[in-house]
Order: sequence, then structure tokens, then C-alpha cells
Amino acid sequence: MTSDEQKRRAAEAALEHVPEGCVVGVGTGSTVNHFIAALARRPHLVAGAVSSSEASTRLLKDARIPVLDLNEAGELDVYVDGADESTRALQLIKGGGGALTREKIVAAASRRFVCIVDRSKVVDVLGRFPLPVEVIPMARSYVARQIVKLGGQPVLREGFTTDNGNAILDVHGLRIVDPPALETELNQVTGVVANGLFARRPADLLLIGGESGVEMLKR
Ligand code: 5RP
Repeated sequence: MTSDEQKRRAAEAALEHVPEGCVVGVGTGSTVNHFIAALARRPHLVAGAVSSSEASTRLLKDARIPVLDLNEAGELDVYVDGADESTRALQLIKGGGGALTREKIVAAASRRFVCIVDRSKVVDVLGRFPLPVEVIPMARSYVARQIVKLGGQPVLREGFTTDNGNAILDVHGLRIVDPPALETELNQVTGVVANGLFARRPADLLLIGGESGVEMLKR
């Protein structure tokens, strides 16, 4: 079974955790694309969606799912999103698709975060996947120097601008043994908009698509 099929399994399993008639928060990425496709086959399941990226907004609109502004939607019942890495404590690295800031905002505004991944994303220690950090463009060299002092090797994501008009530094060489501490430390660097650690607000439920079905881990 390919990792894409595992992603699809996890995404379809997430439907069971979406209360009927709710406004659902929708993340970004290839796993979430399977979730949007599954929602499109159940047009009356949700009243609408709050999207974490322009890319997901386009897919939701194509599927005729009403897209709401978060400011109008208020607190959401559930947010469904993928991840680049997850521990078994449901702490995550996200932002491979560059949508981390809006993803963090929608996750923060949701009562429940259901994370959907294929088995390859589950790790013992976060950091093999380069940690994305969104930065204000004029601050990128300054922020990169501060990250080097923290022991990381930042690499500018060339030719990429976030939906917020910012740059991404992908930080290599980290072995993240205390994710909440590093998340806080990076947030305090002036010029950082958000970093891809979801440890202070981890997922509540992890659905792992695999060969023999979908494993569910709860926090
Ligand atoms: C986008 C993300 C994605 O959730 C993450 O990159 C996983 O992507 P995929 O589902 O394509 O493997 O954080 O910013």
C-alpha cells in the first residue's frame, strides 16, 4: 500500500470525528486534500469550513463547501489537518506546505484537533523533518543568525512566499527533545511569525493510516 493510500485511509476515518452540521476547520496538504474529497462526497455533513490556506480554499469552493471567515465562525468544534511528523504524545512538526501560521490559528480556535497522517510520519523524536519557520522578509537574515545560535541550520525556502506574504526558513539538524520549550524560544525571536512546532497546542487525536487499517491515538 502506498503512503498516499494510507493518507486517504486516515482522511476518510476523520469524517467520523466531524459532528453533523458543524463548521469544520480544514488544514492544508495532500492528506487534507483526501479529506476535502471525502467531504465533497458527503455534501450535507458540514455547514461550512474555515480554511487554513488559499490552496484548500480553492478545493473547498470547487467542492461547493461554503468557506467562512474565522472571525465570523467563532470557536470551531473540530480542526482536521495533516502533519510532517508526529510523536506518540501527539506533538507535531507542520508547515511542509508553508501554511503553518494559518494552520496554527485555526487549530488554536478549535476545541478538537484531529491529525491525519500515514505511518511514515510517526517518530520517536521530532526534527528529522526540517522545522519550518515563517519570518517577516526583512528579518530573515537576523532570524537565521539567531537560529544558528540555537543549534539549527536554517535554509531559505527559495522561490516560496506564504499566503501571508512572508518567507520560510527550513531548519535542519535539530533533535527536538523538548518541543514546547523550543516552540516558545523560537516564538520569542523578533521577526518570527510562527514556527511549525505544534507542541503547546498538540493534536487531540491522531489517526494513522497503515497497511492494516487506521490506528487511533488519543491525548
Ligand atoms: C502544510 C502542512 C501539512 O499538513 C504537512 O506538510 C503534511 O503534508 P502532506 O499531507 O502533504 O504530507 O503542515 O503546511
